[in-house]
Amino acid sequence: MAKSISLNVNAKSVKINVDDPDMPLLYALRDNLGLHGPRFGCGLGQCGACTVHVDGKAVRSCQVPLSSLTAKQKVVTLEGLAKGKTPHRVQQAFIDEQAAQCGYCINGMIMEAAAFLAASKNPNDADIKQALANNLCRCGTHARIVRAVKRAAANA
Ligand code: FES
Ligand code: FES
Repeated sequence: MAKSISLNVNAKSVKINVDDPDMPLLYALRDNLGLHGPRFGCGLGQCGACTVHVDGKAVRSCQVPLSSLTAKQKVVTLEGLAKGKTPHRVQQAFIDEQAAQCGYCINGMIMEAAAFLAASKNPNDADIKQALANNLCRCGTHARIVRAVKRAAANA
């Protein structure tokens, strides 16, 4: 029997009817709410393509069962990172540095970097590489991604 789950996503309260309350958050975001910023990459918590924020922390939404979330926890996706029409500083920096090739990893890179920069005011290259070490990019745009995160850090 379908169960109704209440969530707070991108500052809106939403209800989702699901057959399986342990369904991954990623599926609810993409399939029930039409938020396609988070990507399905590995589905195993290993690539980072599905990264979103829960209460400001970067998490892998393919590994978060809906049943583990409460309606008070704030889920933010790539779509909710901007303030109105103004991109988040990390989004703007990725545009300025043209950091994407195919773009598949970029949701995860931006969401991971945004959570990292919220807590790290003046990171060096090594800090940034460490923060993004578990986000995979098959296109090899790592150098531009690191430049973009440095640019965003400088624009705090
Ligand atoms: S799809 Fe979630 S970590 Fe790869
Ligand atoms: S830009 Fe293609 S996977 Fe990173």
